[in-house]
Amino acid sequence: MTVLEVLQATTTYLKRHNIENPRLNAEHLLAHVLGRKRIELYLEFERELTEADLGPLRELVKRRGEGEPLQHLLGTVEFCGHVFLCDKRAMVPRPETEELVEFLKSEIRNSKSEILDIGTGSGVIALSLAAKFPDAEVLAVDISDDALALAQENAARLNLADRVRFLKSNLLENVEGTFDLIVANLPYISTQDRHTLSREVLHDPAVAVFAGERGDELIRELIAEGPSRLRRGGMLALEIGIGQSEALFSALAEKNYRDISSKTDYSGVTRFLFARYG
Ligand SMILES: C[S@@+](CC[C@H](N)C(=O)[O-])C[C@H]1O[C@@H](n2cnc3c(N)ncnc32)[C@H](O)[C@@H]1O
Repeated sequence: MTVLEVLQATTTYLKRHNIENPRLNAEHLLAHVLGRKRIELYLEFERELTEADLGPLRELVKRRGEGEPLQHLLGTVEFCGHVFLCDKRAMVPRPETEELVEFLKSEIRNSKSEILDIGTGSGVIALSLAAKFPDAEVLAVDISDDALALAQENAARLNLADRVRFLKSNLLENVEGTFDLIVANLPYISTQDRHTLSREVLHDPAVAVFAGERGDELIRELIAEGPSRLRRGGMLALEIGIGQSEALFSALAEKNYRDISSKTDYSGVTRFLFARYG
């Protein structure tokens, strides 16, 4: 079979298994197996593939059809222009979180800021900010040993291991000092909404997805604890779930944060909250 024929057959297979963007998935998987960039496949449509190429591809396509995330099969994900390792130890980073990081890059005025990333997962937020601000001090916290191990591997790969400290902590419990920015993309899905999630999301660790019955429990806890670890005028930046903005806006106001604002993501969902303290 040629590259083009394999792409067409794979696309049909993935479509039948209800995979979104089946052609794009097929291209990524074939490029991965051939060790090519996706775009390079277009120059090789007529190339005949050998069984040595097709064997590994079949296995990956089968797993993708069963709902395993594309990023787990590729082993990497691109985030804010950097390539991060991605596997089941932490949540697959989402495009919304890239929006949050891009916004923070434009907001951070002091290049020597002290930054705290709570619930760092694979480390994408902490490491992207550390790469952008070489003089910043960055602390990345997670409750999961697995996530911290992955984040540290990512730090090493990006030559940022000496720039970012990692700490195991339940929210701010083990954190010392004060920060100019606390950023958090904490779990925000209600345990009751488990049945609404896609097969792909169910491959993320449960500790990265679910908070409690409401969904916003951990974010509320962080809002309550935040003032003890924010410098005067420091910012809390939160990624939140659908429909949570009003209640969390009020929670910030009740705890005397100021300059509270929200921002929508590209799909129009109010996805981010920002507030300063002191
Ligand atoms: C939604 S994931 C976000 C991961 C990463 N920051 C990102 O944006 O891709 C939430 C992360 O919070 C961590 N987490 C959950 N509960 C926590 C807690 N009580 N304290 C600290 N981290 C927690 C999870 O282990 C997970 O890595």
